[in-house]
Order: sequence, then structure tokens, then C-alpha cells
Amino acid sequence: MPTRRSVLKGAAATAALPLAGCGEGSTVASYAAVAEEIRRPLAANADLMECVRYATLAANSHNTQPWQFELSSNKVAILPDLSRRTPAVDPDDHHLYASLGCAAENFLLAARARGLYGALEAGADGPIAIAVDAGRPEETDLFAAIPKRQCTRSVYDGRTVPASELALLEHAAAGEGIRLVFLMEKPRIENVLEYVLSANAAQMGDEAFVRELKHWLRFNEAQALATRDGLFSACSGNPTLPGWLVPLVFPFAFTTSGENDRYAEQIRSSSGIAVFVSARDDRAHWIEAGRSFQRFALKATALGIAHAFVNQPVEVPASRSEFAGWLGLGAEERPDFIIRFGYAPPLPMSLRRDVRDVMV
Ligand SMILES: Cc1cc2nc3c(=O)[nH]c(=O)nc-3n(C[C@H](O)[C@H](O)[C@H](O)COP(=O)(O)O)c2cc1C
Repeated sequence: MPTRRSVLKGAAATAALPLAGCGEGSTVASYAAVAEEIRRPLAANADLMECVRYATLAANSHNTQPWQFELSSNKVAILPDLSRRTPAVDPDDHHLYASLGCAAENFLLAARARGLYGALEAGADGPIAIAVDAGRPEETDLFAAIPKRQCTRSVYDGRTVPASELALLEHAAAGEGIRLVFLMEKPRIENVLEYVLSANAAQMGDEAFVRELKHWLRFNEAQALATRDGLFSACSGNPTLPGWLVPLVFPFAFTTSGENDRYAEQIRSSSGIAVFVSARDDRAHWIEAGRSFQRFALKATALGIAHAFVNQPVEVPASRSEFAGWLGLGAEERPDFIIRFGYAPPLPMSLRRDVRDVMV
């Protein structure tokens, strides 16, 4: 998938805009103000709904935010919002359920920070059910990283992440039925790049994929603020573009060779690649893989390490099995995500819908 899409060279769109659902009486706000407001610190006396706000700051595929939350006095259910599926890039809903896992992990960390201990119902294969009990408040570095985490889709500075920090990332990501494969040697990283380029070309040649991606792209702040979801150009390090110019520029700027050049530069600038692998290819494992990725991403953020997905080889089914074979995975295993990591300054943060809009 891709915000990853190098979209467009064009004029920057501007920002004072109508703002929905961001506090009483506010009629205009800039993109930056909304992005900051949704990441305000967790209230000292946070209730479950406030913890849901932190849950929604999780990574999620195409920023579709494919979730709904149902609260009762000591239970939380995280339900798939199937109206937000992305069938072209994610026909089996793997990314959708992984995104629910990412949100569950943020929820558990936020709740624990306020003395609300959540336990996930074992073996969830659809909706996630969390029972909450009182306990001693515990704020971890992962919790503190929740509002700062982002996928940084830029060229990194080439520095190497030390082995001691790789060990911390691996420890944070450890999860039931999930393992992490680090690829740190240049030739192995070049091999991954080849898989990315060929799977990217396949996606770029797939009309349904491009149509779906375009539906979730937001080319300027006004578009991003209107829906508060989707992939905003600036969050991928791309210029913004006035809406009227999009049909004129998009077909010329969004090309297979342009995208491939960009991925090559981004991957070669990274310190390494981490592949998340599920022991089995089912929903319960996809949810666990999402939780594991979210902890990895939060630990990376706490350590000042940037990361981004380069998932093309695990999204195109034919390429996924070839890639799994190259990695030497077992017959039942599934490669869930491919993550590059390294060092880079942050890009603008992405938006989320108001928490009231994701409650059942
Ligand atoms: C399961 C999953 C798959 C994803 N795949 C990709 C991907 O292939 N390429 C990419 O650039 N981002 C990918 N993302 C990142 C999302 O686009 C990103 O989390 C979302 O736009 C919100 O931005 P943020 O994480 O910076 O807050 C993925 C995220 C998840 C959870």
C-alpha cells in the first residue's frame, strides 16, 4: 500500500478551514492544530472513552481507521468497520484485522497508565473483547510514545541502528505466535528491494488497486480535514496540491518508474528491514501481529528510530509466496509486514476522526 505514492509536484494548498468535532465554538483551525488536538496528553482521570482516543492513534492500513468501539462498565469491544475495507490491496482483510490489533495495543497501554488493566479474550478471530479490571497505574515508555509515533515515509540518513537497540525492538515486539526476522546486510536488503519493485509494478498496473488508493489519498489540508482519514500527501513527504489540479497532474506524477526510484532511495537509506511473521495465517494471528508491530513502532519511537512499511511483496499474493520461500518460512507461516527502519526527522502527523464518530 502507499502514501508511499510520490504524488505530485505542485503548489502548496493553504490551511484555515472549517473544523468539525474539535471542541466547542471552534469554527476554523489549521491542519497542525487538529493533529495536535487529537494527540493531547491522556487525561489524568481518563475513562475508557479517553483510552479509546489513544487507541485510535494507532497505525492502520491506508488510514481508513477500520474500527468501531463498544463500551460497557468494564468491557471494551473493538469491532471491524467493514464499510472501510480495502478489498483491492487487502482482499482477505489481513491488514484490517492487524489494524484492530494495533488499536488494541494502544488501548491496553493507555488504560494501564491510568490503573485500568485490560485482558484480551484469547483466540479472538473477529471482534476483539477486552475485560478491564482495576490495578496500579503504570506509565511505560511505550505509553509515552503513543502520541509521537508515526510512519515516516522519507529518505533516512543511512546511520546504523546498534545491535543493542535491535534487541530492545525485538523484545518489545515479542508476541504469541509472532516472530521477527531482521535483515541488516546490504545484499539481503537489495533482495528485499527487488521484491518491493516488482510487486509495486504489479500494483501500479492494477486498475482496481490504483482506483482504491486514489479514493484514500488526500491531496491538500482541506481534503484531509474534511474526512480526517486517508493518506495526506504531506505525511508522505509529498507536496500538497489544489483539488482542481489533481486530475491534470496525478497521471503524470504517479508512475511506476517514479515510485520505484523513490522506494529504492528510501530502502537504501534505511538501516535495516524487519519482517513480521505469523506462525499461522488466520485472524487471531493477524491481530497479534498488529499488536506486536504497534509495540515495535512505539519502542522505536521511544528510541528515536524512524520506521515505515514497504509491504508490496506481502500484499500481492503471488509475490507473497515467493517472498516467504526466499525467507525460508514454514508452510503454515505468513509474512505479515515488511518494515524499514533508521533515522530521520519526523514528517507532519496524520489525522484521526473524532472519537465520538467511532463509538457504536
Ligand atoms: C496493517 C498495516 C499495513 C500498512 N501498510 C502500509 C504500506 O504498505 N505502506 C505504507 O506506506 N504505510 C502502510 N501502513 C501505514 C499506514 O498507512 C499508517 O499507519 C496510517 O496512514 C496512519 O499514519 P501514522 O501511522 O503515521 O499515524 C500500514 C499500516 C498497517 C497497520
